[in-house]
Amino acid sequence: MVNDYKDMAGAEAVAGQVRALGGRAIAVQADVGDSSQVKEMVRRALSEMGKIDVLVNNAGIYVRHEGGIVGLPDEAWQQVLDVNLSGVFYCCREVVPDMIRRKEGGKIINISSVQALLAHFEASAYQPAKAGVVALTKCLAVELAPHKINVNAIGPGAIASEGMGAMRSPRS
Ligand SMILES: NC(=O)c1ccc[n+]([C@@H]2O[C@H](COP(=O)([O-])OP(=O)(O)OC[C@H]3O[C@@H](n4cnc5c(N)ncnc54)[C@H](O)[C@@H]3O)[C@@H](O)[C@H]2O)c1
Repeated sequence: MVNDYKDMAGAEAVAGQVRALGGRAIAVQADVGDSSQVKEMVRRALSEMGKIDVLVNNAGIYVRHEGGIVGLPDEAWQQVLDVNLSGVFYCCREVVPDMIRRKEGGKIINISSVQALLAHFEASAYQPAKAGVVALTKCLAVELAPHKINVNAIGPGAIASEGMGAMRSPRS
């Protein structure tokens, strides 16, 4: 199952590529920052695909804000935390019960960022959110190890992409 909230054409294209290679895939639209939408997304995944072996928490946003912390409004702070951190929490919370019940283990891969550890200009919501993903990953790795569920985080460096392109040159 390929989920995206803003780019359904992209999600459909990825699902189509999986099908073209002989796999089963559907594209769905859920906002990972909304726990009720995540609940429905996981319910649908389980009902249509039967089980979830691997969860990749990749959705992320970066909200550009000039002027450092002083220029960061409540809504932007909350939006970045909702998608980048709460989204990971909601998806893990919904997927884990089935993995535990099936007793076959599972894999959870959370996309954090090198910015969880390094400082950057005008990222005072993004960096705490990504550091939170690392903390949540460590916590779940310990908590879920007895169930043979591996939980890891990846911290990429700068990669040119649509959403994150703005971060490559913070002063431009
Ligand atoms: N590109 C980089 O330099 C870089 C570096 C480190 C970490 N990351 C992380 O990698 C991940 C992917 O980023 P990317 O660079 O490919 O950016 P991107 O914007 O191309 O991809 C992010 C995807 O998340 C989707 N999305 C946004 N809000 C969502 C929501 N509420 N619910 C569901 N989907 C939503 C977007 O539609 C988009 O398809 C992010 O978590 C990002 O923080 C990126």
